[in-house]
This record gives sequence, C-alpha cells and structure tokens, in this order.
Amino acid sequence: MMRTTLTTLNKMAHDGEKIAALTCYDASFAKLLEEAGVDILLVGDSLGMVLQGRESTLPVTLSDMVYHVECVARGSSKAFIAADMPFGSYQDNPHEAFRNASQLMRAGAHMVKLEGGRAMVETTRFLVERGIPVFGHLGLTPQSVHQLGGYRVQGKSAEDAKQLLQDAATLCEAGASLMLLECIPPELARAVTTATPAPTIGIGAGPDCSGQVLVLYDLLGIYGGKVPKFAKNFMHGAASIQQAVAQYVADVKAQRFPAPEHSF
Ligand code: KIV
Repeated sequence: MMRTTLTTLNKMAHDGEKIAALTCYDASFAKLLEEAGVDILLVGDSLGMVLQGRESTLPVTLSDMVYHVECVARGSSKAFIAADMPFGSYQDNPHEAFRNASQLMRAGAHMVKLEGGRAMVETTRFLVERGIPVFGHLGLTPQSVHQLGGYRVQGKSAEDAKQLLQDAATLCEAGASLMLLECIPPELARAVTTATPAPTIGIGAGPDCSGQVLVLYDLLGIYGGKVPKFAKNFMHGAASIQQAVAQYVADVKAQRFPAPEHSF
C-alpha cells in the first residue's frame, strides 16, 4: 500500500475528493484509523486536553509531542502524518523552530503545523526552504486562547475576514502546503479554499474546505469536557469504533459531514 503524500493530498483536492483527517496519538489507533480510510493522522496538541486532562493545549511540551509522534509513526504505514508544534517551541525565532520541528520530523512526522498568520510567515519560509513542509492553522488558534478570550468563532467581521484571507495567501506564498481553518464562518472558509493553492482542512468551518478534521475523542464521544458545536459523536448507531471511523470517512467523502448544524 502506497503512503499518502502531499502530492496525493493535492491531487485529491484538485479532483474534488474530500480529505478525511483525524487526530491520533498512539500506534493502535493509527493502524485502526488508516485501515478505516483516514488520509491524514494529525498528532494534535489537543492531546494535552483529551489525554492529559489539562485545561488547554498550552502545557504540552515538545517531548510530549515527540513521544506521541513516535507512537503514531510505529502504528502507521499508509496515512500522511502531521504533527503540531507545541506552544513555545516555534514562536520565538525560525532557527529554534527548525531545531524543534526537526525533532518531530525525526520522530516520524511528515509535516509540522504552526498556529498563526502574519507572525508565522518568516518561520514558514525558513522551514520550507530547509525541507520541512508546513501546515498553517488560522481562525481559532487554541494556543492563543487567553488572547482570544476563549474558544470563540473567528473571522466574523469584514475586517477580520479580510485579514484571514490575506494571512492564508501570505502563508501559502511562504510555502505552506496545507491550511487548517478552525471555527470560522463557512463562507469565509469557502473563500479561502477558492483563493489559496493549498488544500484546506476545516474544523467548524463548514462543508466547502478540501477536507475535514475532528478530534478523535469527540468522534468517539469520550471526551469529558465541553463538546464543541462542530463535533459529532459517530459512535451513535455504530457497532464498533472501526465502524464509527469508517462512517466518518464515508460522510466526509460524500459531503454529508459537516451538516449545517455543525457550522457557525
Ligand atoms: O490539536 C488539535 O487537535 C488540532 C485540531 C484543530 C484538530 O489542531
């Protein structure tokens, strides 16, 4: 079985085939998710909340991320593996970002994800020019939760929407090759998807992104914290975890998920 690559993902976006992504933190789930057809395994820093029981993603360390990337990489043979750079590991300067990103790549990631717009352009260019693919992350950026005043929908005013579109364009010019759009109005996500060359992966961003991602524990309905409006528990009516994940993949590919009730 051939490994999914950025070339595969670009072709899927170009051909109109929706990309199905899920967060993943360990080897057993890596195998299960990719056997159910998941294209991208995102080792998200959401592991701080869903695995470690923390209130936010901020305390997650680089060694936490390296450990979980290694676990996922051991269980995976087919999916594309993206890894979050944790808070404080990339914001200061591009050189430090490169040193830290290289640890995630050595652990088995195929790409690193950075939260933020304009402020991340120089670092994105620096990483990409040195061979590390970058996944941008715009809209609700959970590592900035305290600055944003909570987990709120972003890009609602005309001014914020224009800024987000510009950020997406400049990140792509700098070399970002995927763009995660979190908690933004569906019309804005559609505009970004149309205007930027990089495939977009949405979470709470409506149905028109190139693909969708969910936090695995929300899909399984086992996270004890607040369940966001955009999440769906696919275990309802499913006979097994395998069946629930396969249903998620089928619903993303057939554009049944997200439904209007999952959008803002
Ligand atoms: O850490 C994470 O799980 C994320 C989500 C937006 C999917 O980045």
